[in-house]
Amino acid sequence: MKKAIVVGATSGIGRELALLLVRNNYLVGVTGRRESRLKDLQSAHAANIKISCFDVADTAGVAEKLDRLADQLGGCDLLILSSGVGELNPELKFEIEKDTIDVNVAGFTAVADWTFRYFEKQREGHFAAITSIAGLRGSRHAPAYYATKAYQINYLEGLRQRTKYLKMPVHITDIRPGFVDTEMAQEEGRFWVATAKKAAIQIKSAIDKRKPVVYVSRRWRSIAGVLKVVPGWIYQHI
Ligand SMILES: NC(=O)c1ccc[n+]([C@@H]2O[C@H](COP(=O)([O-])OP(=O)(O)OC[C@H]3O[C@@H](n4cnc5c(N)ncnc54)[C@H](OP(=O)(O)O)[C@@H]3O)[C@@H](O)[C@H]2O)c1
Repeated sequence: MKKAIVVGATSGIGRELALLLVRNNYLVGVTGRRESRLKDLQSAHAANIKISCFDVADTAGVAEKLDRLADQLGGCDLLILSSGVGELNPELKFEIEKDTIDVNVAGFTAVADWTFRYFEKQREGHFAAITSIAGLRGSRHAPAYYATKAYQINYLEGLRQRTKYLKMPVHITDIRPGFVDTEMAQEEGRFWVATAKKAAIQIKSAIDKRKPVVYVSRRWRSIAGVLKVVPGWIYQHI
C-alpha cells in the first residue's frame, strides 16, 4: 500500500486530494489545525487515514510532527503540501501580510525542507505543492499572497534543480491553480472556477505523470502564457 501525507487536508483542495488518494488505496496522513475535521475524516475512513493536528506556522514543531506521522504510516512515498492562506488586503494591514508570510513562506519552507530531506534519505519520493497562478505577477489586491506564491514557485524550482544536481530520483510537482471553489476563494469576479473535486482529479493525474508544473484547471495555462508576456507598463494599470 502506497503512503502519502497531505498537509492542509481539513478543507478545499487538500481534503479532496486526501479522499481521492484513499479511493486509490493509499494510506494517507492528513494534517491541519482544525482537529474536529481531521477526526471526522479519520472516523469515516479508519483503515486508510491517520491524523496529525498542527500549525505549519509554528515552524519549530513541524519536523517532529511530520516525523511522527510518517512513522505512524510506516513511510511516505508522496507528500502534497496544500496548506496556505490568502486574504484580500485593501487597507494593506501588516497583520494580514505577516500571517500570509508566516504560513505561505515560513510554514511552506519548513514542510518543504522536511520533505526534501526525508526523500533524500530514502533516495526516492514525490513532493507536490499547491502554489498558484497568482505567483506569476504581483497584485495590489493581496500583495503578500501573490508574492508568497512567487516565493513558493521559485523554491520548488530550486528543489527540482537540487534533485538533478544530487542525481536523486525524487520528483517535484508545482501545481498552479486558477480559481477553485473553496473556503479561501470567495471573492467576487471569479471566472473559470473549478470544483475542488475536479481540481483534485487533475492534480492527481499530473502527479501520476510526474509533471514538473501543472495549471489547474488546464485552460489556466493560456492565462499564464498571457501573464508572462504582458509588459510592466501595461500590467501596472490593471
Ligand atoms: N481556491 C483557489 O482558488 C486557489 C487558487 C490558487 C491556489 N490555491 C492554493 O491552494 C491551497 C489550498 O487552498 P484551498 O483553496 O483548498 O483553501 P482552504 O479550503 O482554505 O484550505 C486551506 C488549507 O490550509 C490549511 N491551513 C491554513 N493555514 C494553516 C496553518 N497555519 N497550519 C496548518 N494548516 C493550515 C487549512 O487547514 P486548517 O485551517 O485546519 O489549519 C486548510 O486545510 C492554498 O495553498 C492556496 O493558496 C487556491
